[in-house]
Amino acid sequence: MAATNYKTFWDDKASTTTGAFIAVDGSANEDVARLTGAYTARQVACALDLQPRDRVLELGCGVGRIGRELAPKIAHWEGADISENMLAVARERLKEFPNVGLTELKRSSLESLPSASFDKAYCVAVFIHMDKEDFFLYLEEIARVLKPGGLVFFDTWNLASAPGWRRYSIEVNQHRNADPSQRKDVARNQFSTPEEVRAFCLHSGLEPLAMFSESPWVQTVAIKSGAGDAAAQRARVERDAARIAYTPLWTELFDAMVRVSGGDITPREMVQSLGDDARGEEVAMFRVWFRELWRHNEAHWGPLPEELR
Ligand SMILES: C[S@@+](CC[C@H](N)C(=O)[O-])C[C@H]1O[C@@H](n2cnc3c(N)ncnc32)[C@H](O)[C@@H]1O
Repeated sequence: MAATNYKTFWDDKASTTTGAFIAVDGSANEDVARLTGAYTARQVACALDLQPRDRVLELGCGVGRIGRELAPKIAHWEGADISENMLAVARERLKEFPNVGLTELKRSSLESLPSASFDKAYCVAVFIHMDKEDFFLYLEEIARVLKPGGLVFFDTWNLASAPGWRRYSIEVNQHRNADPSQRKDVARNQFSTPEEVRAFCLHSGLEPLAMFSESPWVQTVAIKSGAGDAAAQRARVERDAARIAYTPLWTELFDAMVRVSGGDITPREMVQSLGDDARGEEVAMFRVWFRELWRHNEAHWGPLPEELR
């Protein structure tokens, strides 16, 4: 039976450790989580200008893929999630760090966390899985728990870019002939535009500093409105844009994975695009990532090809 709320949906996905890893980055594998986690952690650290004194909140922390990389560099890392099963995996993975806290959210609210208690917050690949009202209410909550001048980094799927639209088309095609008597999946992928995200920020007490939207994602850096030096922060974020935004190569390779899912190219054609490490560090990461995806799809795609072994 389809899950009726976010908690049961994600607890079900994370009912095994393998399932939890698959749900966060499709990998089922600690090595891939470390690789993609380090990549995303660099973007987050740069977007938020993370400092050793910072208390940082991750909303929707999953298995601690990103937190595992950031916790050693900051004063306190708090991972909040709606799924206790996800948090159980995160607890095990991060047990060596004394400065880690985990908060199970009873519903889509940060009500158990005090106001003005974090310097920075981030949320990656989470708002794409909830109703727009919950997305907006969470932005209000993030503004509340941030200290004056606090920074936040978050992302959503981007309808307004060509690769984002291709990702959306996969969802549309799944729904095209859906049974109208069935309720839509509670955590299905949701898509936004930069304009929509800007409106959500402005109405939730956050001032956007930068929005990167050339990839399938809208990546937003914002400051809690009303305090802090927004102009200086904006200049810093613009200076660091290339280290925060997904690169053209990342976008091309991610788009190729989307095309495999949509049936536009074959998995073997994707492997060909992963042959040249000299193109950039993303090639090696995607090769490991795609290898694990292939392993999960061997029944459909055939045995893992030599190039991915
Ligand atoms: C795709 S995973 C991403 C995990 C992590 N941010 C990362 O990038 O590795 C989505 C996570 O968001 C959590 N989540 C989904 N809906 C939520 C909600 N309404 N409130 C809080 N967490 C939620 C899920 O339990 C899951 O851990």
